[in-house]
Amino acid sequence: MKRFVDLAELPREEVLALLELSGRLQREPQPRALAGKILGLLFLNPSLRTLASFQAGMARLGGSSFVITPGQGTWQLETRPGAVMDGAAAEHAREGIPVLASYCDALGIRAFADGRDLAADLAETTFNALAALVDKPLINLESAVNHPCQALADWKTLEDFGVPRGGRLVLSWAYHPRPLPLAVPSAVLHMAALRGMEVVVLRPEGFALPPSVMDKARRAAALSGGSVRESEDRREALAGAHIVYAKEWGATACYGDAAEEARRRAGLTGWCVRNEWFEPAATECRLMHCLPVRRNVAVADEVLDGPRSIVRHQAYNRLPVQMAVLYRLLKGL
Ligand code: CP
Repeated sequence: MKRFVDLAELPREEVLALLELSGRLQREPQPRALAGKILGLLFLNPSLRTLASFQAGMARLGGSSFVITPGQGTWQLETRPGAVMDGAAAEHAREGIPVLASYCDALGIRAFADGRDLAADLAETTFNALAALVDKPLINLESAVNHPCQALADWKTLEDFGVPRGGRLVLSWAYHPRPLPLAVPSAVLHMAALRGMEVVVLRPEGFALPPSVMDKARRAAALSGGSVRESEDRREALAGAHIVYAKEWGATACYGDAAEEARRRAGLTGWCVRNEWFEPAATECRLMHCLPVRRNVAVADEVLDGPRSIVRHQAYNRLPVQMAVLYRLLKGL
């Protein structure tokens, strides 16, 4: 494996092998496996889980890591091609990223969506331009429309809780005061389809995921016997569901138009997951969310603090699956 950027770049068997390796590293720790190896982590956007779990994972395998958050103790980094750099940024990614890559054995990059041009974000314009500057194994720490580390951790979580391969996963839009990126819903949709699940995207009008995102998931479902469809009807979508995966994202019908986006979401505060949502679901139906989550805005306390919530286990699983990714990238076995 040369890079970990998109689950769709890997054969399904390779994804399953990473999950198997993550379980093995939990059962049989290898504290010297990556001795002498260095992981660089470049965060152009904030993080709690991704940053901490990669540093912890590298340390647990005997390696070390450094973190760069441009503008916070390091130079601000310009990423736009052709920019006239007479503003705050003192360094361009074209110099900064190859320099960072020269110090480490693998580099992770987080670069969120710009949020203005849907076509550019769907094409991963920023992440791909940065990735082209890296001559080492590369890890996507979350890009405009992908978060493979989250997706892999979520797959492991589904396995850990014995969620049936063909079970129903409802990826439900949830309210947030701001339009959030499409990265997690896109990655989770693809992951669940690749796992072979019956996936229902539950969302209000105007918040459909882009056709290219749906098509990618449908191709994965075709490989694995899963299915993908959309619904605006909560009771119908949740009937017999095994998982409600709550996630906030921006209105694709007016992407980049802040005023129209605010108007559309103003009437949607009722999309906060509550216990009553689970009435038509399977008895053992669980709540997933990638975190961070706004309590009583996206998901109510009663759900997050109740027995259905497995969000902390999801977050924990970032550690073992990323250790498997690091092991495969840096040790190659
Ligand atoms: N889920 C996730 O990626 O969390 P962070 O943004 O805190 O890294």
